[in-house]
Amino acid sequence: MPALDQTKTPYFDALMEYIHAGTVSFHTPGHKHGVGMHERLRRFIGDNVLKMDLTQVRGLDDLNAPHGPIQEAHELAAAAYGADFSYFLINGSTVGNQAMFMSTLRPGDSILMPRNSHKSALSALIMSGATPVYMRPEVDASLHIDHCVTAQTVSQALDANPHVRAVFITSPTYYGATADLIEIERIVHGRGKLLLVDEAWGPHLHFHPELPASATSAGADMCVNSTHKLIAGMSQAAMLHAQGSRIDLGGLRSTLRLLQSTSPLLVLLASLDVARMQMATQGRDLLSHTLELARETRVRLRAIEGISCIGPEQVGRPGIAGYDETRLVITVAELGYTGYEASEILRTRHDVQIELADLRNIVALVTIGDRRADLEQLVNAVAALATASHSHERGAARVRRQQRQPSDGLDKIPEQVVTPREAFLADHVEIAFSDSAGHVCAEVVTPYPPGIPVLCPGERITQETIDYLRLEIDAGVHIQGPADEKLRMIRVLAAGERPDRSKRP
Ligand SMILES: Cc1ncc(COP(=O)(O)O)c(C=O)c1O
Repeated sequence: MPALDQTKTPYFDALMEYIHAGTVSFHTPGHKHGVGMHERLRRFIGDNVLKMDLTQVRGLDDLNAPHGPIQEAHELAAAAYGADFSYFLINGSTVGNQAMFMSTLRPGDSILMPRNSHKSALSALIMSGATPVYMRPEVDASLHIDHCVTAQTVSQALDANPHVRAVFITSPTYYGATADLIEIERIVHGRGKLLLVDEAWGPHLHFHPELPASATSAGADMCVNSTHKLIAGMSQAAMLHAQGSRIDLGGLRSTLRLLQSTSPLLVLLASLDVARMQMATQGRDLLSHTLELARETRVRLRAIEGISCIGPEQVGRPGIAGYDETRLVITVAELGYTGYEASEILRTRHDVQIELADLRNIVALVTIGDRRADLEQLVNAVAALATASHSHERGAARVRRQQRQPSDGLDKIPEQVVTPREAFLADHVEIAFSDSAGHVCAEVVTPYPPGIPVLCPGERITQETIDYLRLEIDAGVHIQGPADEKLRMIRVLAAGERPDRSKRP
């Protein structure tokens, strides 16, 4: 087949054609090209965005049954990403993870997945009814962050669970580590299982040889990319890629039809089309510049006393088969600040907003949208933070506190009494956390960092878990997931549900 012309933007062009034809519209959205919109919003967002906000009428194709310019845009995306099929997503990688699970797993099927998978994977478990078999990701105790699962972990988990239907891997992580997808693909396909990859943080990987290998190039059956996270898709715009003969494409398409809105924001679809064109035609140059800026900035950050910033030298450590150098994980713990405090100071005193903060680190994303002056501002802000911290009294106590190992006591994954779906659909009651031993948890309980859930829906709560989580809370660790983040109360399955009550103390 001749190579497709990646300079083309069929969906964006179709929108332009419709707009320029000046067609009078008697269809949704009700603001009718912005005319009906209050000027408070209209004046700021401008006429062009509102003119592009159309519905899927003749000529603009149908995301749920594409046959025209969306279909062509999908084919161009597949060719650019080295996949056989690509689909535009309008609810981020969230809907991509849901579609991957729902199209490949039935209730009763099991899937191997990292314990620290994103919550969209939990929603995918709930929607599909599949049973998770969790794998432990590698934890970097000094930085208090989690990396990827290793190929060895995948292999051992498959030995112990030969019944699983699929293996789900997250790569890259939020912190930039990538898994050994090439080896994992060999292992997973060697055992006849499906390989599904959450590559939400890797929409750019495919376009630069100095970035880690992408999931499609490693041979994953399906993967999701949050195009909006690191390249030029607009928020919510993402893609799902599929390849090979193991995927039932008809089933995948009908799952996407079920999950995606019938009224997509066409601006999102156009942004996906143009972002693909940009990466396919200029990605290498743009990413070379991005890498150069990130590398320069890493060197400058490392020169600041009290600051460290991991980089590609980490490759080869457990759970770090590759490293995305555009991610700046800036460790501020030695300054005596938590990452949360550093983030707050950078924002309120220096007008710098970073992506993520945890107990010891802040994470800044460097992308094709950054200019040297922006990174200058980041470095200056971190330098000012370091200077201001020298007499930071609370520091010593806080650093001592941080030296506790949050992964201590996490080694055992609790007994899975019912599936996440059964736990989600059951009646719940809220009880005192201290009295919850023996009950079946209805919530996710995740100490941050390192972001690995201690309890997931459907799992039995033990006294050991309660004692461990109390220690974490007393040490100031943030708990994410439960309705009561202080964990005085917890939601559990109501009496009469399936849990084996004989195991209660
Ligand atoms: C690993 C991972 N997967 C999936 C998602 C969901 O992506 P989106 O926000 O595009 O729905 C996220 C979001 O942060 C994520 O970190």
